[in-house]
Amino acid sequence: MAIQRVFLVALLAAKGGTFALRTHSTNPTQLPAVDAKYDGQCFYPQPALDFDLDSYLGRWYQVAGTVAPFTAGCKCIRADYSLNANGTVDVLNGCELGGQEVKIQGTATAIPSSAGYGEGGVLRVQFPGQSAPECPGPNYVVQYIGAGNGSEGCGADASGDGAFAIVQSSNFSTLFLLSRQQNPSNTSIEAWLQRAGRLGSNLTEVVLTDQTGCQFT
Ligand SMILES: *[C@@H]1O[C@H](CO)[C@@H](O)[C@H](O)[C@H]1NC(C)=O
Ligand SMILES: *[C@@H]1O[C@H](CO)[C@@H](O)[C@H](O)[C@H]1NC(C)=O
Ligand SMILES: *[C@@H]1O[C@H](CO)[C@@H](O)[C@H](O)[C@H]1NC(C)=O
Ligand SMILES: *[C@@H]1O[C@H](CO)[C@@H](O)[C@H](O)[C@H]1NC(C)=O
Ligand SMILES: *[C@@H]1O[C@H](CO)[C@@H](O)[C@H](O)[C@H]1NC(C)=O
Repeated sequence: MAIQRVFLVALLAAKGGTFALRTHSTNPTQLPAVDAKYDGQCFYPQPALDFDLDSYLGRWYQVAGTVAPFTAGCKCIRADYSLNANGTVDVLNGCELGGQEVKIQGTATAIPSSAGYGEGGVLRVQFPGQSAPECPGPNYVVQYIGAGNGSEGCGADASGDGAFAIVQSSNFSTLFLLSRQQNPSNTSIEAWLQRAGRLGSNLTEVVLTDQTGCQFT
């Protein structure tokens, strides 16, 4: 039960509140075996089969995710994706830290299917001034898009109001749970995190993002 317990502690630490974690069937001692691509240097999650970039564009809220240096202490984490004239994707990430707005703008480049990482939903995100990702393949993989509490199957419209997206990085190192709604129900978030766990994410360092009282959205 180690993972469940640490996970619950992480959630409580994140929000300082109570979070009813239902029992579930996640194997507590190891990550589930999931399909992954290995390119000789790194592992990559399988992307969603039905990824469509156009419907993926626009505003997403990060409602939960791995504790990461670049979002440490941040609340109200959001991302705005739009197409650049040259076909790359403009990435505008924003959050609120100590009452101040933090913004960072970067570029995501879709990796062609010929590279072997997947048919779509595999991107390489680069922010200016940051060193290039260590892994040669995608560092942004859209693993799953769905709606509601996660009980529905794949195939949901990513542009829909209730859509969620599970995004992982190379070596399954960073999970982002994105939502079109800023404050979806805890039940939905929990269900989506369990799905992310079944897709290979280590949930022990995943925390909920505070999306309340946001000043800059
Ligand atoms: C969701 O859980 C957080 C604690 O993790 C709590 O503060 C919040 O009130 C809950 N929201 C709802 C709608 O239950
Ligand atoms: C999950 O992450 C935690 C904390 O980083 C680590 O201690 C644990 O070994 C990881 N679990 C697996 C199965 O990799
Ligand atoms: C990714 O995982 C592979 C296999 O475990 C490891 O050899 C490599 O160093 C990792 N790369 C990064 C950047 O974490
Ligand atoms: C595409 O356009 C964006 C925005 O103008 C720019 O930042 C990026 O470097 C360009 N990428 C390529 C490969 O030309
Ligand atoms: C998810 O939603 C469906 C349909 O709205 C409902 O039937 C199901 O009980 C819900 N599941 C959970 C775990 O809340």
